[in-house]
Amino acid sequence: MVCVAGGVGIAPMYPIARDLKKAGNHVIVIMGARNKELLFWEDKMTAASDELIICTDDGSYGRKALVTEPLKELLTERPGEVVKVWAIGPTIMMKFVSFTTQPFNVPTIVSLNSIMIDGTGMCGGCRVAMTDGAKFVCVDGPEFDGHLVDWGNLVSRVQYYKDEEQAAVEHWQQVRDHECNLDRVGIRD
Ligand code: FES
Repeated sequence: MVCVAGGVGIAPMYPIARDLKKAGNHVIVIMGARNKELLFWEDKMTAASDELIICTDDGSYGRKALVTEPLKELLTERPGEVVKVWAIGPTIMMKFVSFTTQPFNVPTIVSLNSIMIDGTGMCGGCRVAMTDGAKFVCVDGPEFDGHLVDWGNLVSRVQYYKDEEQAAVEHWQQVRDHECNLDRVGIRD
């Protein structure tokens, strides 16, 4: 089993890798981030895997590579050994993981939960085009066969609100003294 985790996708991938190993699988984890500061849980992933490959875009830690590079090497150099690939991370990463495994016919599961809005099946915001018809991520997923996802459609969908998201990040960076409502009313206590 190969688990490919990118960025914050490392967190939801951890219990999957851990339980795959607990079930007796040989687990290889490939985890990547833009730089060393954005990597986390190396210790947990080391414990949850038999082999751990770390990549950073800028080479500040581990291998300077995209996660698809070691993945392609595994598929090429150990033919028939990889029976399934799991991928959780940025949409573009899951797209290229799926494109990498497709020629090798290795089943690939991707997690599309980041496109969900209300998560109840009512808003329609998580509708995703698949080659076998439209699906709702919160009802039919969130895990899907990566080889059936219409990635062109999905990548453009997740960019609809890019400007607004960037503005929200910039606003948050300027208002660092923001007090969370959860703290204000003592819910966290
Ligand atoms: S998140 Fe709203 S319908 Fe799925």
